[in-house]
Amino acid sequence: MAIEAPILEVDRVSAGYGRGTILFDLSLAVRRGEVVALLGRNGMGKTTLGRAITGGVKLTSGEIRIDGRSIAGLKPYQIARCGLGLVPEGRLICGGLTVRENLAASAVRGAWTLEGIYDLFPRLRERADHAGGALSGGEQQMLAIGRALMTNPRLLLLDEATEGLAPVIRQQIWAVLARLKKGGLSILIVDRNLRALRSFADRFVVLSKGRVAWEGDAAAFDADTRTLETYLGV
Ligand SMILES: Nc1ncnc2c1ncn2[C@@H]1O[C@H](COP(=O)(O)OP(=O)(O)OP(=O)(O)O)[C@@H](O)[C@H]1O
Ligand SMILES: [Mg+2]
Repeated sequence: MAIEAPILEVDRVSAGYGRGTILFDLSLAVRRGEVVALLGRNGMGKTTLGRAITGGVKLTSGEIRIDGRSIAGLKPYQIARCGLGLVPEGRLICGGLTVRENLAASAVRGAWTLEGIYDLFPRLRERADHAGGALSGGEQQMLAIGRALMTNPRLLLLDEATEGLAPVIRQQIWAVLARLKKGGLSILIVDRNLRALRSFADRFVVLSKGRVAWEGDAAAFDADTRTLETYLGV
């Protein structure tokens, strides 16, 4: 029997901006249905890795594969069609479009409908006709997640999706992410909330200066407190 390829493989990738290299020979994988947490202090390359995966920064070497197929040369929208949904740092929603329009703009044929998103985030149903720019930070974050889901992803990439939000909103978002995980969605998540990640992630990858400094499952992560101290400053 053939071994199933991981949904995402980052294979010895180097990348950066202009002449500056930020990611050095970096490898990681996300298997089907797995949640991988990407950790590291500020400026260690988490967002840059997300951009490399979604086609926002060019690789100088290495390869990224989705479902075993290289995404080299593909434009971001083509990568999205391969089943990758991005919830970017800073949300980046269209302030001039309504909630409904923001969601509809990224819709593809598939399992997720507007109603499905509204069931996940009832607040978005209430705000459906409000401009994205008039939403609270938490509502914008819900919209950013909803928008990514509307592309019907098999892998969701979340960059600081709970940052700067009120605790009650954070809890709602973690609950939704748990539901998505239970539904079998594969997730690569960057977040600062280690406590929430401990009960959510299957595996942890810690970046330091653009390299993988540590990786392991949740039990190993709990046991290896020195990792937390050295690389995360907690
Ligand atoms: N658009 C850009 N142009 C040039 N350099 C950049 C750009 N974006 C990020 N960098 C640099 O790349 C390095 C890694 O940044 P990155 O945003 O990937 O880190 P991060 O781990 O996501 O940090 P944070 O936790 O603060 O979000 C930093 O030195 C940063 O200054
Ligand atoms: Mg970042």
